[in-house]
Amino acid sequence: MNEDTTPATRQRVLSGMRPTGRLHLGNYMGALYNWVQLQHKYECYFFIADYHALTTDYADTSELKKNVREVALDFLAAGLDPKLCTIFVQSHVPAHFELNDLLGMITPLSWLERVPSYKDQQEQLKEKDLATFGFLGYPLLQSADILVYQAHFVPVGQDQAAHVEITREIARRFNHFYSSKKIVHTPPPSLHGNVGGVIVVPDQDRPILPEPKVLLTPSPKLPGTDGRKMSKSYGNTILLSDPEPEVRAKLKTMVTDPARIRRTDPGNPEVCPVFDLHKVFSTAETQAEVRAGCTSAGIGCIQCKGWLADAVVKELAPIQERRRYFETHENEVTAILEDGAARANARAAVTMQQVRFAVGLA
Ligand code: TRP
Ligand code: SF4
Repeated sequence: MNEDTTPATRQRVLSGMRPTGRLHLGNYMGALYNWVQLQHKYECYFFIADYHALTTDYADTSELKKNVREVALDFLAAGLDPKLCTIFVQSHVPAHFELNDLLGMITPLSWLERVPSYKDQQEQLKEKDLATFGFLGYPLLQSADILVYQAHFVPVGQDQAAHVEITREIARRFNHFYSSKKIVHTPPPSLHGNVGGVIVVPDQDRPILPEPKVLLTPSPKLPGTDGRKMSKSYGNTILLSDPEPEVRAKLKTMVTDPARIRRTDPGNPEVCPVFDLHKVFSTAETQAEVRAGCTSAGIGCIQCKGWLADAVVKELAPIQERRRYFETHENEVTAILEDGAARANARAAVTMQQVRFAVGLA
């Protein structure tokens, strides 16, 4: 277990994903792939944001439990290793909500109203009533997710950068009101939380709620089969769990360079979404062959897509092998999430003890 015993331990990384159901290649390249690398270097906490799912999907929660399970399977399939990182479900750690509520006391409404995703999402999801307290509070809850682990880094894509920014502002405001100085110089006994037999002393060099940094995911452009950004809402995805024939069939229908109409027309890979995927999944050799073959009309699009399918299937093979293992060992998945929740709860408790003391609660 990677408990935080001294300030010299590994820096913490925290990130979450909403339980949207089975994950696709876009989720993988945009986040999971990166997380798998990070678990070797940092003390990582990765969670399934089921509370966040409720901010938009509160009216119909019938799929929630199933979706959480699917995402857990995909986390493990992608290579998150419970021996290296802590994997858990957000709602199994009530401290997220406790800190959310405490931070709610000091967060100006105007800060939440001006987060770009607030108005954007209300526009885009017109069929849902998002004029709710919970939806306005989405970025605040995300801030609590991050701050309750006193995380140093948050690996996210550009679309989430504004949420990390407001997290920094809220942390700064908290530290301004409830300065940690008193605590650092005369640590009262109550701060020495006893977590799993380990004495935890607050880091002398950090404020109670340190400002986290974005760890921008170097996410390559990943188009879906219709050429738009791969996204569940566009129905253009390739799932991590799609069987080989499904992957091949989906890629066969993928849009190409629209100017390449006949087999004899030369094409331009630089404007072709199929080639964007080659750049991510194919070897440099294959990419060179595609470039030469396409621009000279030496190869057809069907052949080109076949090569792409080969590369994607190869990438997915170990992921699907791990998924099959966990699908047939359901109890193990449950145990992993329980153990993850226990570790997350323990770490969150350390922060909450400091927070409660700083705020002046008894
Ligand atoms: N809002 C993130 C998304 O939609 C998910 C998320 C919730 C998250 N809490 C988080 C990401 C905390 C990073 C840190 O993808
Ligand atoms: Fe796109 Fe490949 Fe067809 Fe060229 S050959 S247009 S890169 S699918």
